[in-house]
Amino acid sequence: CGIVGYTGLQDAKEILLKGLEKLEYRGYDSAGIAVKNEEGVTIFKEKGRIADLRAEVDEDVSAHTGIGHTRWATHGVPSQDNAHPHQSASGRFTLVHNGVIENYAILKREYLQDVTFKSDTDTEVIVQLIERFVNEGRDVEEAFRHTLTLLKGSYALALLDAENTEVIYVAKNKSPLLIGVGEDFNVVASDAMAMLQVTDQFLELMDKEMVIVTKEDVTIKNLNNEEVSREPYTAELDASDIEKGTYPHYMLKEIDEQPAVIRKIIQAYQNENDELMIDFNIAEAVSGADRIYIVACGTSYHAGLIGKQFIEKMAKIPVEVHVASEFTYNMPLLSEKPLFIFISQSGETADSRAVLVAIKELGHKALTITNVPGSTLSREADFTLLLHAGPEIAVASTKAYTAQVAVLAILANVVAKFRNEKIDFDLVKELGMVATAMVALCDSKEEMESIAREFLSVTRNCFFIGRSLDYYVGLEGALKLKEISYIQAEGFAGGELKHGTIALIEEGTPVVALATQEGVNLSIRGNVKEVAARGANPCIISMKGLEEDDDRFVIPKVHELLTPLISVIPLQLIAYYAALHRECDVDKPRNLAKSVTVE
Ligand code: G6P
Repeated sequence: CGIVGYTGLQDAKEILLKGLEKLEYRGYDSAGIAVKNEEGVTIFKEKGRIADLRAEVDEDVSAHTGIGHTRWATHGVPSQDNAHPHQSASGRFTLVHNGVIENYAILKREYLQDVTFKSDTDTEVIVQLIERFVNEGRDVEEAFRHTLTLLKGSYALALLDAENTEVIYVAKNKSPLLIGVGEDFNVVASDAMAMLQVTDQFLELMDKEMVIVTKEDVTIKNLNNEEVSREPYTAELDASDIEKGTYPHYMLKEIDEQPAVIRKIIQAYQNENDELMIDFNIAEAVSGADRIYIVACGTSYHAGLIGKQFIEKMAKIPVEVHVASEFTYNMPLLSEKPLFIFISQSGETADSRAVLVAIKELGHKALTITNVPGSTLSREADFTLLLHAGPEIAVASTKAYTAQVAVLAILANVVAKFRNEKIDFDLVKELGMVATAMVALCDSKEEMESIAREFLSVTRNCFFIGRSLDYYVGLEGALKLKEISYIQAEGFAGGELKHGTIALIEEGTPVVALATQEGVNLSIRGNVKEVAARGANPCIISMKGLEEDDDRFVIPKVHELLTPLISVIPLQLIAYYAALHRECDVDKPRNLAKSVTVE
C-alpha cells in the first residue's frame, strides 16, 4: 500500500491524488483520500484504481490538509468499505495505514468490545483505539503514542483530527515512510517519488518514531516522548524518469531502457583506469566469507540464482540462494563466516527485511543490491550496491532484473580478482557487447509480437525449459508471462520436465526452449524432441553459433556466462505482447503490487 499526506496553503486534493497516482505501483485494489477544512473531514474512497477515485472526488470541496491511500488488500477484500481512510466511531479521527497489525484481534477484544466496526480491516482497530484513549481523557498526541505502544506488526500511519485542522499525526514501524519538507507546507509519503511534484527535501523516519506535522513544523519524537532532530536529504530522482513519454506502457519503455542501463552500470562501477571496481570494504567482506547466502523474492530471486553461478564460477565461493519468506523459520545451518546478499529492486520488500533483521540479530554482515538508494534494506544493511536502473514503474520487473544480473557479474568479477582467482575474459568488454546485443533484441519487437500471437493467443498454459543458466532465465520468462498475461506458465529444468510435468503436455501446448549454452545444447534439443513427440508446439530461442534450422529466433552471440542478460529480453517482449493481445493491464496486473511491504 502507499500513503500520502499534505498540509499547506494549496488545494490538498490535487496534490494527494497526484501523489497516489505515483504510488499506484504499491497497490491498486482501492484508494481513498480524506481532506479537512473548518467544516470537518470529507472522505472520498472507491474500489479500483486512482482514476476511479479521481472521478468521485467533488471538485468543490476545498481543503488545505489531507491524507490519502492506495491499497493492496491484506485483511478484508478489496471493497469501498475496506478502502482507507478509516474513521473512528464518532468520526473525529481519520486514518490511513500501510502494514499489518498482527495483534488487532486481541486489541479489539481487550479494548473495543462495545464498538461497531465498519470494515474488516486491522487498520480500523488503530483509529478506534485512538478515539477510545482520547475519550478516556488523554490528549490526542498521548492517545496516539499510547496506541502505538500497543501495536504489534508493521505500520506507516497518517492521522487527521477533525478538531484540529492543521495537524497530521504520523508514525512508522517497519513500513516505509518519509516526511517531505517545503516552504509553508509539509508532506507525508511512502516513497519520495509521490511528492517530487512539490519538494525534493525529505526526512527519513526510523522505526517506532512518531511525527507531528503542520505546515510550518515537523516534530519527530520517539515513543518515550523525546524529541529527535534530523536533517533533510535531497532526493536525487528526476521527475521526468517517472514519465511514460511516448510509450504505450511503462513495461515497454523499461524493456527498451536495458541497453542504456547496462552502459550506465559499466560506467558506475569503473575506476579512472577503466577497471571494474566496487567499494574496498564490500570486496573485502564478500571475499572473506566462507559461504554466501543470497536472499530475495520474485524476479530478484531469479537474478540471485544466476548470481550464484557467477560467484561460484568466478570467485569460487559457495553460494546458497533462498526465497526470503521461507528463510526466517527454515533457517539453514549457517557456515562459520557467512555473508548475506539481499537483492531487491525496491529495497522495501518486507519478507526480505524480516530476514535482514533476523541475521543482524545473529551478528552477521549484509550487503543489499537495490535500485533505491536510502531504501530500508539499503539503510539497514552494512553495505549497498546500487543498480542504477532508474525508477522502475511497471509491476513486472524487467530492467531491474538485468541490472541485478549485471551488478552480480561485476561483484563476482571484482571479488574473484580480490581473491586472485584467474578470470580469462574482460568483463567490461563483454558487457559492452551485451549492451549492443540488447539494442538488436529491443529492435526485434515485430518478431516477438508474432511469436506471442502464434504461440500464446489462445493457449491456457505454456512451459519454459532450459538447462544450466537457461533454466533460470526460463523461470523468469514464465514468471513474466503469468504475471501480466495470466497464462499459466512454468519454467523447468530441461531434464526434469519428463519426471512428471510432461503429463501436462497436450496437442499444441507451447514450450519455449532456450538453447544458449554450448555444453547442453544437444541435451536441451533432445528435451524439445521429447515434448514435440507428445504434441507440444516448440519455440526454440537459440544463440548465434548454436542455431539449427527450425529455431524460431536466434539471439546474438555474447559470452556464455552473460547470456541471461540478453536471452531474457525476447521472453520479456513475448510476455508483453501476449498480455497486450489478451487485453490485460500490462503495467498493473491484477492482484499484484510492485513493492510488497507486508510479510
Ligand atoms: C513483488 C513484485 C515482484 C518482485 C518482488 C520482489 O512481488 O510483484 O515483481 O519481483 O515483489 O520485489 P523487490 O523490490 O524486493 O525486488
